[in-house]
Amino acid sequence: MSMFSGLIRVMERAARKAGSRLRRDFGEIEHLQVSRKGPADFVSKADMRAERALYDELLHARPDWGFVMEEAGVIEGDEGKPRWIVDPLDGTSNFLHGIPHFAISIAVQEPRLDGKGWGEVTAGVVYDVIQDATYWAEKTRGAWLQDARLRVSARRNLADALIATGIPFAGHGDFAEWSRIFGAIGPEVAGIRRFGAASLDMAYLAQGRFDGFWESGLNDWDTAAGCLLVREAGGFVSDFRGRSNPIHSSQVLAANDGLHSKLHKLLAGALR
Ligand code: IPD
Ligand code: CA
Ligand code: CA
Ligand code: CA
Repeated sequence: MSMFSGLIRVMERAARKAGSRLRRDFGEIEHLQVSRKGPADFVSKADMRAERALYDELLHARPDWGFVMEEAGVIEGDEGKPRWIVDPLDGTSNFLHGIPHFAISIAVQEPRLDGKGWGEVTAGVVYDVIQDATYWAEKTRGAWLQDARLRVSARRNLADALIATGIPFAGHGDFAEWSRIFGAIGPEVAGIRRFGAASLDMAYLAQGRFDGFWESGLNDWDTAAGCLLVREAGGFVSDFRGRSNPIHSSQVLAANDGLHSKLHKLLAGALR
């Protein structure tokens, strides 16, 4: 824990507080009120309560910073100050089905120096709620799980690689595009997994558990912390055209340094 900077400590404390709320609600999912944002896009009382807990904690610690939150949207902070990008419950479908794999994602985004909009993500925390594990990264300070340094895997052969993905669902994403990519990558790799929490897919990639990850239709709150974790662990992150996007895009192709170009070749071939 001694490795934590003051900022990461703030994020970690907020995540743990909201995480204990989520663990309590996870024990009583049959009583949770659930509503829909789209055909298969659910939001529950648990998402809302966790977001409120994060908001209260983070606002208290940095009163002049703004927010981008999945449920409450954008709340402006003071000019020239950073903002928090918050996903209070990444993996809501898992959560609501009693599957113990979901996370809280918090990132810090800096304003651009020229004052025109938003720039780099400089800190991120992905808190694995059930494992009580804090993945964190700070720009140029590396990626960490608690106080252990993280490094992407060294696997170089597609045939050895375990790849994570997110599959589109009713009313969300391009299933035909996903299927073409799956058809191109699937036969070449050791396996493909769909675990259901994008932030944890990227944390696992940073940790060397997964060797690659692709998904489209993502939002900043899904990707901001995870992309920083992967980069700070020595991995590559791009969009589907292979462009490295320093902020982020709704498409993510992430992998260790040896596999990224191989996966991109397969993906680009599938989309041609
Ligand atoms: C979802 C999860 C899922 C991914 C979806 C996201 P949510 O986030 O990260 O793995 O496939 O694209 O929307 O809605 O559970 O926070
Ligand atoms: Ca959601
Ligand atoms: Ca999410
Ligand atoms: Ca969410």
